[in-house]
Amino acid sequence: MRISQCREEDLDLLDQHMPSREATSHHEARYARHREGRATFLVAWRDRRPVGSCEVRWEGCAAPEVRAVHPDCPEVNGLGIWPETLRSEGIGTALIREAERLAADRGCRVIGLGVEKNNPRAKALYRRLGYHASVPYLDCWSYEDGAGVAHRVADACLFMVKPL
Ligand SMILES: CC(C)(COP(=O)(O)OP(=O)(O)OC[C@H]1O[C@@H](n2cnc3c(N)ncnc32)[C@H](O)[C@@H]1OP(=O)(O)O)[C@@H](O)C(=O)NCCC(=O)NCCS
Repeated sequence: MRISQCREEDLDLLDQHMPSREATSHHEARYARHREGRATFLVAWRDRRPVGSCEVRWEGCAAPEVRAVHPDCPEVNGLGIWPETLRSEGIGTALIREAERLAADRGCRVIGLGVEKNNPRAKALYRRLGYHASVPYLDCWSYEDGAGVAHRVADACLFMVKPL
């Protein structure tokens, strides 16, 4: 398994192998932020197939209640492993470790991530990796499905942080 920063030519493979709920690819939006330097979009590969990804958002979590408490805290966002059969093999851990390494190299003192309150398995993994619960918040976002219908979502989440 190898981890690299996303390149433009990887986007088709990401769309092919890693599903998007949105009609427009969220990989493209993540890559746009990466190109602008606002984020680093990391991809995990097995052979030549993308099997996981996450984005390190250098501007931090978008939720105002989190920003108020952690104004200078990059956020690991959108961590996911596909297909499901490849979960529990250490790929998620490797992506988080790489995000932490990049943040430490930039001189960041802390890194954080949001987890849905009803995702106990991810929460347990983050705890094992040294993250502790910090701020409960609502993750508000919207997307348009394949039929052009707009959906608004507000997920109850917990922001967890780890000193670097
Ligand atoms: C949450 C998620 C990103 C974790 O990624 P992952 O690659 O499965 O995580 P890891 O393999 O590093 O660690 C998970 C588990 O594998 C175990 N594990 C890690 N390395 C292992 C290895 N080499 N061999 C066997 N087990 C291993 C860990 O102890 C952990 O235990 P668990 O099964 O009790 O949870 C992944 O499960 C996923 O995509 N879930 C759906 C989307 C999601 O919930 N994303 C998180 C949003 S906050």
